[in-house]
Amino acid sequence: MTTALTVDVRIKPGDRRALLERDVREGLTKEAKSLPAVWFYDERGSELFDEITRLPEYYPTRAERAILVPYADEIATAAKADTLVELGSGTSEKTRTLLDAMARTGELVRFVPFDVSEEILRDAARDIAAAYGIEVSAVVGDFNRHLDAIPRDGRRLVAFLGSTIGNFTPTQRNRFYVDLDCNMDYEDRLLLGTDLVKPVPRLLAAYDDSAGVTAAFNRNVLSVLNAELGGNFDLDAFEHVAVWNEQERWIEMRLRARTAQTVDLASLDLRVHFEQGETLLTEISAKFTRGQVQDELWEAGFVVDQTWTDPDGDFLLTLARPYC
Ligand code: SAH
Ligand code: AVI
Repeated sequence: MTTALTVDVRIKPGDRRALLERDVREGLTKEAKSLPAVWFYDERGSELFDEITRLPEYYPTRAERAILVPYADEIATAAKADTLVELGSGTSEKTRTLLDAMARTGELVRFVPFDVSEEILRDAARDIAAAYGIEVSAVVGDFNRHLDAIPRDGRRLVAFLGSTIGNFTPTQRNRFYVDLDCNMDYEDRLLLGTDLVKPVPRLLAAYDDSAGVTAAFNRNVLSVLNAELGGNFDLDAFEHVAVWNEQERWIEMRLRARTAQTVDLASLDLRVHFEQGETLLTEISAKFTRGQVQDELWEAGFVVDQTWTDPDGDFLLTLARPYC
């Protein structure tokens, strides 16, 4: 059995720091305060997300698994790939179903997990290299900047699971799809996971669970700012809020200041004032319709080959290919 594990670190500590500083300065000094969701995912944030995936209220992970388990062989056969690339791979837990199916076709040669969170990526890459005896070429990168770091070897199935695409605005989605299309060859395939629109109470429960894990995940971004930028956020002074934005068809996660307060970020020499009740937008999680996914992919250069849903119709997996 030949195993080879490489890790290509595209995010250098200095770059990460510069981006964090830019995002925080920009996001906390504008009228409607916001932060990009990518800053949730330090080691603790990745652990909390993993906990979220096991919550009774958080259906997306179970729903996506309920598609992968029965259809992974069909997907692997349709994709005819020897390389599985996974964007925003996290623990790559569900991905094993796909790897197993690709191994059964006898074609599987290589796995390329790609994530911004280095510790979790290294752990998953090591475990998969050991379990499957295949080449694992991990990339520590930002999928908004480093898609060109995906190795070009082999015929690739690029999986973007978990509806992480929902954490992008429509403009960011289009930019991402176009960039991905530019980095894919004609024979490569995209497997995209998207959460479908459903009744609002279920959506709200999924983003405001009774055990408070999502609230801890949300507040964790303030811990990241405290640890990395010398901040003095009092986490208890912010309330976790999840609201459904009907017009945009997305969940908004916000942190609402319980009282008027001032926060210092020593490394940025920045003082930020929050009014009582003022919110900081930390994440959007868009929900999709089938037609919307197909249209958005088409606009960016992909044609849909096949789609699959779970028995409850909660989640959609789409297999698409670049059309030129
Ligand atoms: N795909 C897994 C994990 C989803 S959580 C699943 O379906 O369960 C989202 C993942 O995307 C996290 O592992 C996070 O670290 C990663 N991520 C978030 N923003 C990113 C970015 N800009 N570039 C690369 N990875 C990112
Ligand atoms: C990673 N992403 C798809 C998750 C979501 O559902 O939008 C992140 C998350 N936020 C709160 N719970 C889970």
